[in-house]
This record gives sequence, structure tokens and C-alpha cells, in this order.
Amino acid sequence: MTSRDPIQAPWPRKKTATVMAGCLALLFLVAAGLPLTAQAANLEVLAPTPSSIIYARKPATHIIVRLSGEDEKSLGQLRIRSGDILFSPQGSWSANNSHFVHYQVPLKPGENSFEVLPAGKKISVKYRPLRSLLNVDFDAKGVFLFHRDELLPQNCTPCHDPKKIKTGNGVSNEPQPLCISCHKSVLENVSWQHSPALNTQCLSCHQKEGQPLKVTIPGGKVETVCFRCHTAKKAWLGKAHIHGPVGTGDCTVCHNPHGDNNHSQLWADGKAELCVACHTDKKTLLQKEGGPKRIHGILTGAGCIACHDPHATQNQFQLTKPINELCTSCHTSLAGITRGHPVGGHPVEGVKDPRRPERMFACTSCHNPHGSGYKFLLIGDILGGHVCSQCHY
Ligand code: HEC
Ligand code: HEC
Ligand code: HEC
Ligand code: HEC
Ligand code: HEC
Ligand code: HEC
Ligand code: HEC
Ligand code: HEC
Ligand code: HEC
Ligand code: HEC
Repeated sequence: MTSRDPIQAPWPRKKTATVMAGCLALLFLVAAGLPLTAQAANLEVLAPTPSSIIYARKPATHIIVRLSGEDEKSLGQLRIRSGDILFSPQGSWSANNSHFVHYQVPLKPGENSFEVLPAGKKISVKYRPLRSLLNVDFDAKGVFLFHRDELLPQNCTPCHDPKKIKTGNGVSNEPQPLCISCHKSVLENVSWQHSPALNTQCLSCHQKEGQPLKVTIPGGKVETVCFRCHTAKKAWLGKAHIHGPVGTGDCTVCHNPHGDNNHSQLWADGKAELCVACHTDKKTLLQKEGGPKRIHGILTGAGCIACHDPHATQNQFQLTKPINELCTSCHTSLAGITRGHPVGGHPVEGVKDPRRPERMFACTSCHNPHGSGYKFLLIGDILGGHVCSQCHY
């Protein structure tokens, strides 16, 4: 652990392995009963506030501890303990006769307890993973919002200088290196980064309306934030069939606003894996075991989005085309027919479906588009005429 000049310092990144080795050594020292001098009295936890609820997408938070006075020796011993794991600081810097010791610690859903060693100060916080913003009340008592009252507490400003914020008229699209001095981690370990986050235009989404120096989380209908730049996508809301979460304005239930490991900053593969996370009844379609005997070939390739648009279309079930047109765009031998399949003169559209009175006849009157237990993805066994007898008694 080193003391460095504020901000210019390169971040001392440690490999987990060395941190763990350090942990073991320290545990040994503790066990051997060596005198540990840091006193609770001159040690203060600046963030997070104890017993608060932390909502975040990434299961991690920062702990910032201030050690007053010149006590270099105890500084060298400071660790955070969570269960059997000890965390070394990411770095420590000095200003105003105090040391500011910085940690980044992982969180698990629910209760998390930490102890600052050797002083014995306890920190406990509740972690609730954040994905949809719809049901989160950020104004609720006990929710930890670091920027709730002011941009930054005075404690931080000797090194993280808020004068570096570049505001504009209205929402600021300026790059904000200040934010990144504390929030590098929102951009780390992701392979698909969202352009405005990568360019550190953090305030383009996080600036409180009309208050350039207030940071907020854009809760509720996050779509208004997204449509400010993706203006052409507003057209989705005028379509006849809007996908559930798009209709409620919950874009970030699928897209990570900063970046993630899948195409389009999705937190799971958007072709199919993402879909079955909510449409759990369709999960077995993607598994080797437990699903229907026959699976529509396209599912394991292009996936659900071969047929469904994740946002909105003019067709029922957000299909990219009307059903028969969709099917015959791949099964071209049947393209354009209204009659003549599976037997001469048989309609494939244009009449009412006797099995589904509210629907018109379509390829899906006889075929299940996802998978089925029967040959040719039929809704019944073709042997013995079982499929025919669903409509013809
Ligand atoms: C001095 C360090 C620091 C700076 C500078 C900073 N933040 Fe934070 N911010 C934090 C800490 C600490 C938290 C609590 C969560 C955590 O531990 O990461 C936080 C939380 C947040 C949150 C969650 C809501 C909240 O209020 O807790 C948002 C959003 C956020 N910061 C955005 C920003 C943006 C945008 C900027 C630049 C204008 C910025 N931050 C600058 C330290 C900082
Ligand atoms: C004495 C100087 C100093 C003070 C005071 C200080 N910090 Fe820092 N902090 C730094 C430096 C230097 C860095 C590394 C910046 C970099 O890597 O660009 C840093 C980095 C951070 C990070 C990023 C850690 C990471 O994951 O990369 C966070 C979060 C942070 N500070 C929060 C705070 C908070 C909150 C306060 C006030 C309670 C505070 N700091 C006060 C010097 C300071
Ligand atoms: C495109 C809009 C957008 C941009 C740009 C953006 N954010 Fe966010 N950010 C959000 C939304 C929406 C949330 C709410 C949580 C979620 O959906 O992940 C959020 C949540 C956060 C949080 C809360 C903790 C968490 O992980 O959920 C932090 C911290 C944060 N943003 C920091 C930043 C920083 C720093 C930048 C600039 C590098 C930035 N954001 C850029 C939209 C944005
Ligand atoms: C400040 C402007 C801005 C805001 C606000 C914004 N975006 Fe973006 N977004 C961009 C830019 C610029 C790109 C990269 C250019 C492109 O591909 O269109 C991009 C790209 C994307 C992409 C990838 C596009 C692709 O073709 O791969 C997705 C997905 C996306 N944004 C979703 C969102 C969501 C969801 C929100 C709201 C949480 C949002 N954006 C808010 C500017 C913005
Ligand atoms: C149900 C999950 C889901 C929701 C909710 C969702 N998206 Fe998407 N989005 C996707 C998937 C999946 C893709 C990739 C589609 C592809 O690869 O063809 C995508 C692609 C995109 C793209 C890039 C491709 C394009 O069409 O230009 C943008 C931009 C985008 N989404 C913005 C948004 C915005 C804005 C919202 C909220 C109004 C939103 N998304 C809501 C799943 C979702
Ligand atoms: C965050 C959860 C979520 C994800 C992820 C999700 N959906 Fe949905 N989906 C919904 C909700 C909610 C509805 C609306 C259900 C309703 O109205 O009964 C819906 C409706 C649908 C419908 C219409 C169902 C009907 O009976 O009208 C289709 C089709 C659909 N989703 C396909 C997809 C596809 C394809 C994906 C992946 C790209 C996907 N969904 C991802 C939540 C999700
Ligand atoms: C080959 C095209 C195709 C593919 C691929 C596809 N679907 Fe469908 N899906 C359809 C059609 C067509 C319908 C309408 C069925 C009907 O008319 O009865 C439908 C209906 C649905 C419905 C509403 C009715 C129901 O069965 O619950 C949901 C939800 C749905 N699909 C989700 C998915 C998901 C999730 C995936 C990926 C695992 C997927 N679909 C893959 C074509 C497809
Ligand atoms: C994006 C292209 C695509 C679309 C759209 C599509 N399919 Fe397919 N379909 C395939 C592929 C690929 C196979 C697997 C071919 C194989 O196994 O020989 C397949 C197989 C089938 C089979 C089984 C054929 C056999 O010999 O067992 C049937 C039946 C079928 N599809 C019907 C439909 C219906 C009905 C629709 C519309 C709801 C549809 N398909 C939409 C690509 C598509
Ligand atoms: C009245 C019920 C019925 C309707 C409607 C129907 N099919 Fe079929 N389909 C069958 C039966 C039965 C078979 C079994 C093979 C056979 O006897 O030709 C079959 C076989 C198939 C096959 C696999 C064998 C082949 O010919 O390649 C495909 C692909 C197919 N249908 C696609 C479609 C498409 C696309 C539509 C809509 C345009 C459609 N079906 C509408 C009953 C139907
Ligand atoms: C989903 C319901 C449905 C299924 C399953 C179905 N049919 Fe039909 N069938 C119809 C309807 C509707 C008509 C048109 C009746 C009318 O014109 O009033 C029709 C018409 C026919 C006709 C008369 C065609 C003509 O030239 O007018 C024959 C023959 C026939 N079906 C045989 C079959 C056979 C064989 C099967 C099984 C392979 C089958 N159908 C499966 C609904 C179905």
C-alpha cells in the first residue's frame, strides 16, 4: 500500500492471487496476537453509510475509510474482512493530515457484513441487485445514494475536484473525467461498451433535470432517457404490438446502460438466452433434455429473434412479418400459396381457424413454431389422422 499524489497516480491494480496471499499472511499475524495499533477512535468510515440498502447492477461497492493523524504503521495493517476473506486496499492517499483508504468489495444479494481490521469497526449493508428500475423507490428511507444531497462530500473534494465538472445548457453531453476518477469500474470487464458511457458522458443520463450539479439515477420510464439520443426508436411506441417491457419503458431490464458482455450491451445472449430468462416456459426449447422431442431447427441458430422483434412490430406477438409470410420466407417452396398444403385444395390462410375461434387460419394452425412432440412440428400425430381430427371430426 502506498501513498501517492492525488489523482495523477496510476491505480495500483493487484491480482486476486497476491491479494489472497496477503490475506493469509495477515490472518496469521492476527492469530499470533501481534499488537495492532489502529484505534477505532481515529478511524472513520466515510462510505457507505451503515445499515443502508445498496441497489446496483454490478455486485460491488466502494468502502472509503479515513484514518486521522500520522499513524503510518496502523495504515499498513488496515484490511477489510468479510467472513474469512480479507481485502487489501486498492489505494490510499493523504490530504489534510488524514489518510483516505479506498477499497472495492464484492457484494452478495442480501445482508453483507464487513469489519475494518484491526480497529474492529463494523459495516453492514443490504445489497439488492438492480435490473429493472420500475419497482425501485430510490427516495425510500435507508436507500444508500451517495450523491443524494450534494455532488460530493467535502471529505472527497481535496482530491476529486468537483470544479472539474463540465456543465452545459440543459443536459450535459460533455465528457466527465471526474466521474471516472471514482467509477472506472462501470466500464471495466465488459466487451460491449455503450458509446456515451465509454466517452464518459455520464451526465447525459445522470444529470438531474435543470440541476447541472446534481447526480441522479434515471428511474421509472428510462425510455425517455434513451429516446433523447435514439430518436428514431420512438417509432416503436406507435406500433400495434409492443413487447411488454418496452411498453413499460424498461429498456435497461435487457440493456446495460454502461456496457456488458453481449452484443447491444445485453446481459445475456439476446438471440434466445435473454428471452427465456423471462419466458421460462420456453427454456426447455434450448436444452438438450426435458423439452419437446422436436425443436424447430432455427432456434439453436438465429434464435427467437429470427421471428420475434425484441421491441415492437405491426404483427401479433411482435413477429417480424405476418405468420405465413414469415414461415415461407425460409420455407420458400410454400411461398405465396393460399391453398394446396398439406393436401390438395387445403387452405393455409383466408378462413377462420376452427381450433382457435378468435384467430385466422395460418401455418401455426397445424404447426407449433417452437417445437413439438410430433413429426414436422405438428400439433398432433399424423399417424392415425390425429392431427386432422383436431378440426375434422
Ligand atoms: C469521490 C468519488 C466520486 C465521484 C467523483 C463521483 N462519484 Fe458517483 N458514487 C461514488 C460512490 C462511493 C458511490 C456509491 C456506490 C459505490 O460505492 O460505487 C457513488 C454512486 C453513484 C451513483 C448511484 C446513485 C447514488 O447517488 O449513490 C451514480 C448514478 C453515480 N455515482 C454517478 C456519478 C456521476 C455521474 C459522477 C460524475 C458527475 C460521479 N458519480 C462522481 C463516488 C463518486
Ligand atoms: C487524498 C486524496 C483523496 C481523497 C481525499 C479521496 N480520494 Fe478517492 N481516490 C484518490 C485517488 C488518487 C484515486 C485514484 C484515481 C484514479 O485512478 O484515477 C481515487 C480513487 C477513488 C475511487 C475509485 C476506486 C476504483 O474502483 O477505481 C473511488 C470510488 C473513490 N476514490 C472514492 C472517494 C470518496 C468517496 C472520497 C471521499 C469520501 C475520496 N475518494 C477521497 C484520492 C483521494
Ligand atoms: C445511457 C445512459 C447512461 C449513461 C451514459 C451512464 N449511465 Fe450510469 N446508469 C444509467 C441507468 C439507467 C442506471 C440505473 C441502473 C441500471 O439500469 O443499471 C445507471 C446506474 C449507475 C450507477 C449505479 C450503480 C449501478 O451499477 O447500477 C452508477 C455508479 C453509474 N450509473 C455511473 C455512471 C458513470 C460513472 C457514467 C459515465 C462513465 C454513467 N453511469 C453513464 C444510465 C446511464
Ligand atoms: C447521449 C446519447 C445516448 C443516450 C442517452 C443513449 N444512447 Fe445508446 N447509443 C448512443 C450512441 C452514440 C451509440 C453508438 C452509435 C450507434 O450504434 O447508434 C449508442 C448505441 C446503443 C446501442 C447499440 C446499438 C447497436 O447497433 O449495436 C444500444 C443497444 C443502445 N445504445 C441502447 C441505449 C439504451 C437502452 C439507452 C437508455 C438507457 C441509450 N442507449 C441511451 C447514444 C446514446
Ligand atoms: C426484452 C429485452 C429488450 C428490451 C426491453 C429492449 N431491448 Fe433493445 N434490443 C434487445 C435485443 C435482443 C437486441 C438485439 C437485436 C438483434 O440482435 O437483432 C436489441 C437491440 C437494440 C438496439 C440496436 C439495434 C437496433 O434496433 O437499432 C437499440 C438501439 C436498442 N435495442 C434500444 C432499446 C431501447 C431504447 C429500449 C427501450 C425503449 C430497448 N432497446 C428495450 C432487447 C431488448
Ligand atoms: C424482462 C423480461 C422479458 C424478457 C427478457 C423478454 N420478455 Fe417477452 N415479454 C415479457 C412480458 C412482461 C411480456 C408481456 C406479457 C403479457 O402481456 O402477457 C412479454 C411478451 C412477449 C411476447 C408476446 C406474448 C403474447 O402472448 O402476446 C413475445 C412473443 C415475447 N415476449 C417474446 C420475447 C422474445 C423473443 C424475447 C427475447 C428477445 C423476450 N420476449 C424477452 C417479458 C420479457
Ligand atoms: C420460427 C419462428 C419463431 C421462433 C424462432 C420463435 N418463435 Fe415464438 N412464436 C412464433 C409464432 C409464429 C408465434 C405465434 C404462434 C401462434 O400463432 O399460435 C409465436 C408465439 C410466441 C409467444 C406467445 C405464445 C406462446 O407460445 O407463449 C411467445 C411468448 C414466444 N413466441 C416466445 C418465443 C421465444 C422465447 C422464442 C425463443 C426461445 C421464440 N418464441 C422463438 C414464431 C417463432
Ligand atoms: C429463419 C428461417 C425459418 C423460419 C422463419 C421458419 N423456419 Fe421452419 N425451419 C427452419 C430450419 C432451419 C429448419 C430445420 C430444417 C431441417 O431440419 O431440415 C426448419 C424446420 C421446419 C419444419 C420441420 C421440417 C421437417 O422436415 O421436419 C417445419 C414443419 C417448419 N420448419 C415449419 C415452419 C413454420 C410453420 C414456420 C413459421 C411459423 C417456420 N418454419 C419458420 C427455418 C425457418
Ligand atoms: C392443415 C394443417 C397444415 C397447415 C395449415 C400447414 N401445414 Fe405444413 N404440414 C402439415 C402436415 C400434415 C405435414 C406433414 C407432411 C405432409 O404430409 O406433407 C406438413 C409438413 C410441413 C413441412 C415439412 C415437409 C415439407 O413439405 O417440407 C413444412 C416445412 C411445412 N409443413 C410448412 C408449412 C408452412 C410454411 C405452412 C404455412 C404456409 C404450413 N406448413 C401450413 C400440415 C399443415
Ligand atoms: C387447424 C384445423 C385443421 C386441421 C388440423 C386440418 N384441417 Fe382440413 N380443413 C380445415 C379448414 C378450416 C378447411 C376449410 C373448410 C372450408 O372451406 O369451409 C379444411 C378443409 C379440408 C379439406 C377440403 C379441401 C378443399 O379442397 O376444399 C380437406 C380434404 C381437408 N381439410 C383435409 C385435412 C387433412 C387430411 C388434415 C390432416 C392432415 C386436415 N385437413 C387438417 C381445418 C383443418
